[in-house]
Amino acid sequence: MTTIEHNERLTQVSKGTPGGELMRRYWHPILPVGKLDENPVQEVRLLGEDLVCYRDLSGTIGLIGKNCGHRLVNMIFGIPAENGLRCPYHGWCYDESGQCVGTPLESPNSVLKNRVNIGGYPVQEMGGLVFAYLGGGEPPILPPWDVLVQPNSLRQIGQTIIPCNWLQCQENASDPVHSIYLHGHFFKYILERDGLIEERASDPSTHRAWTSIAGVKGFDHVIAKRDERGVQKAMVYTPERGADAYQERWHSYMIFPNIARVGGAGIRFEMQFRVPMDDTHTMHYVYDIYTAPDGVEINPPEVVPYYDIPIADEEGKPILDFVLAQDMVAWWSQGPVVDRSKEHLGATDLAIIDFREMLDEQITIVERGGDPMNVFRSREEIGDVLEGSPKIASGEFRGPRWGGSRALLHKGYWRDDADRHGPLLDDVLSLMQRVDDHHAVATTKSAEVTSH
Ligand code: FES
Ligand SMILES: [Fe+2]
Repeated sequence: MTTIEHNERLTQVSKGTPGGELMRRYWHPILPVGKLDENPVQEVRLLGEDLVCYRDLSGTIGLIGKNCGHRLVNMIFGIPAENGLRCPYHGWCYDESGQCVGTPLESPNSVLKNRVNIGGYPVQEMGGLVFAYLGGGEPPILPPWDVLVQPNSLRQIGQTIIPCNWLQCQENASDPVHSIYLHGHFFKYILERDGLIEERASDPSTHRAWTSIAGVKGFDHVIAKRDERGVQKAMVYTPERGADAYQERWHSYMIFPNIARVGGAGIRFEMQFRVPMDDTHTMHYVYDIYTAPDGVEINPPEVVPYYDIPIADEEGKPILDFVLAQDMVAWWSQGPVVDRSKEHLGATDLAIIDFREMLDEQITIVERGGDPMNVFRSREEIGDVLEGSPKIASGEFRGPRWGGSRALLHKGYWRDDADRHGPLLDDVLSLMQRVDDHHAVATTKSAEVTSH
């Protein structure tokens, strides 16, 4: 059982706390680059710290302390300068290390600026996201996760501030069985309650609610497997429980500490980053890519677009009729920081128990001065692309019908996923249709060749 003290060890994210020091060993996405095109100065809350991210006139992106060192005006009102961000009040200017580099109203001989540093953290861009490292010392390599660098892909970034601790979101990635109820019975109940079942879920062989409900047939137990990147887990089906044959169904992959790799479906692949803003808020990024096979053209936008994934409608009522919305409500409705000392865990929570043990072990490694898992120091170790799981091998294309309803967004199932709120929805549906057409032509051609 988790004690209150142990729960705090796992969940707290401020500087100096065991969990906070672990989370400071990683690069975290802090905003989509596209936000800086709209406004080059943006607020960031990360690991309990209030910061300001800006792009200056030379194109350098910086992440610095929130308050000016002079009389503490909020730098969110700063003016981008040639080499840094200038305070709006008296014009003091700060570079990306947080060092004051100009005090224009002081004497030209003043050395006051040399004594003023408001703090700055390293940032890097990848895949349309700005990543930051708050750990101090030599930053590790920013991991080139496959979705961030995969060529020939449309991509879009969904973002939501979730009012709960990051670990509640991440434990979902170690919980394969929730699908049967949350995305099955509950989904069906909501569609029925709202009079949408006929319109949205008339085909039990493909709609997510029905396929999730059917996932109980033959289910016996959960297995979990640790590997070098995180925890994989599967639901095991046996003939004794009614399955046709013994089967292990592997689910989304929990990448330590706070990433979920949601399984690929057709041309759609997803990574979810659960970024701790503070102990009770998580910035949740849903990073989707849609990879075109050879022979299908795409024209991705120059800047990766982003969008807000809502958790509530205009009247403030929770949205419940798409898959991620169901997950999100499960996370935040547990409370700001769930009291794990009150839980009653069952055998199906095996992978969650495994993950908590892993988290505790990795915190201990950091306490002893070591690098925790998934901190990479050598390029040779990871190469140019770090594969999530399941693997997207370059050039490997798994037909558009593989993977259930998510491969069929263009057949009406776009309403069941967060993609429905995305700016690229029309392009995604068009791409999926063209991939289908391409596949049909390829299949016909191969049939003709075979029959000759
Ligand atoms: S408060 Fe920032 S320059 Fe004076
Ligand atoms: Fe889920």
